[in-house]
Amino acid sequence: MTFSISVIGCGFVGLSLAAVCANKGIQVNAVDVDTDKINSLKQGIVPFFEPKLKEMIVSSRNNLVFSNDLENSILESNIIFVTVGTPQNDDGGINLSFIETACKTIGKSLKNSVGDKIIVIKSTVVPGTTQHLCEIIESNSEQKLGKTNFIAVNPEFLREGTAIEDTENPHLIVIGTRDEKAKHTLENFYRGLYNNKMPKIIFCNESTAELIKYTNNAFLATKISFINSIATLCQKIPGADVNLVAESIGEDKRIGKYFLNAGPGFGGSCLPKDISAFLNYSKKIGVPLSIISAVDEVNKNQKDNVIELAKELVKDLKEQNVSILGLAFKKDTDDIRNAASLEIIDKLLNFHSNVIVHDPMASKNMMSIFGSKISYADSIEKCIEGSDLCIVLTEWDEYKKLKPDDFVRLMKQPNVIDARRIFDQEQFMKKLNFRAIGLGL
Ligand code: UDX
Repeated sequence: MTFSISVIGCGFVGLSLAAVCANKGIQVNAVDVDTDKINSLKQGIVPFFEPKLKEMIVSSRNNLVFSNDLENSILESNIIFVTVGTPQNDDGGINLSFIETACKTIGKSLKNSVGDKIIVIKSTVVPGTTQHLCEIIESNSEQKLGKTNFIAVNPEFLREGTAIEDTENPHLIVIGTRDEKAKHTLENFYRGLYNNKMPKIIFCNESTAELIKYTNNAFLATKISFINSIATLCQKIPGADVNLVAESIGEDKRIGKYFLNAGPGFGGSCLPKDISAFLNYSKKIGVPLSIISAVDEVNKNQKDNVIELAKELVKDLKEQNVSILGLAFKKDTDDIRNAASLEIIDKLLNFHSNVIVHDPMASKNMMSIFGSKISYADSIEKCIEGSDLCIVLTEWDEYKKLKPDDFVRLMKQPNVIDARRIFDQEQFMKKLNFRAIGLGL
């Protein structure tokens, strides 16, 4: 069977899927309601930084059509992947407005469509949402799903910064559907896409698939908050080092070594939002997940932990020159959504510190938030020159090359906080007033 697909929503998930599929020869219609975004994409301009994405979009342009025309794209496709954003409401719960609108249009288009179509919910949605989306599709198409049109939930686990790699080599495919037709079509689609690199595939119903995605992200967040709690404990135990604790427990295969890097707390467009939506959902159904509340709380406190370290080095932060190295929520991205830097800069401004920042990619995004309240340096040297305190918040490779002497030479007072544990503490402690997350002095 040859496949022609629509991908609705041109964010990280949608564009990566569209690019990888088009690159493998599948005909792809990539659709978004944002006209400016579609016009840029038509010219090969990707509105955010993601390694390899732009190159793949450009080289696959024969199979990849960008448009705003959802209805026509759906008519031309046999699989419709829904990858629109599911942002956070003010109460912390999930905002379904984009996905509801998309499903309404899908329903209307199905009225005039011929042939079987599978609608695949890839956006992250709380359990029960797909059932609600089915009702929207059915009322707009004026026909029941499960006859010629089918629905499935197929969560996505890709990370920013490695989105293409993750889409090309997923560790798992989850297909949540009660329809045999949807199950077989999607399995065939993925077998064709991955051939001999086909990962493990798990079939389940829609709600279980929805829950798998939240549980996966919640567990990752739990590992990070767990190690950050131990890091804070280490800071009160002379000589204790969280990195050695993490390395040691990571050797136990039942625990695993990944996601045990202590830091300023997890950020990004997914983990914080999903934790919040999961908590909100669990409370609504009467099973509040206290463990996830604790994960969230630890993550919030971790920013105060960084400020406490700052106060240990510089008692009164008022009018002190504070340089921040790293704004992005992790390295190799320009994304600052929910980055620790946002809150830490806010707190420093409340103390009336003079803040100057550097990031290889994310400064422009930060400018749109803090404007002239802070200064922006275009080099590491300019950022730390004349500082009373320097805080490293993102683990960029170029920061790892810095030596203690660079700080001694350039700073007014050599007070340095390593919130990402990128420096050799022995060397740094010898020459600087040095503090690090998870290091007891
Ligand atoms: C995450 C999930 O990993 C991915 O499976 C899901 O599909 C989307 O959300 P992403 O947001 O790209 O991906 O970032 P990730 O690499 O998971 O990092 C999230 C945050 O946790 C970052 O701020 C990172 O710095 C932090 N982190 C990660 C730690 O502080 N310590 C770690 O050990 C790992």
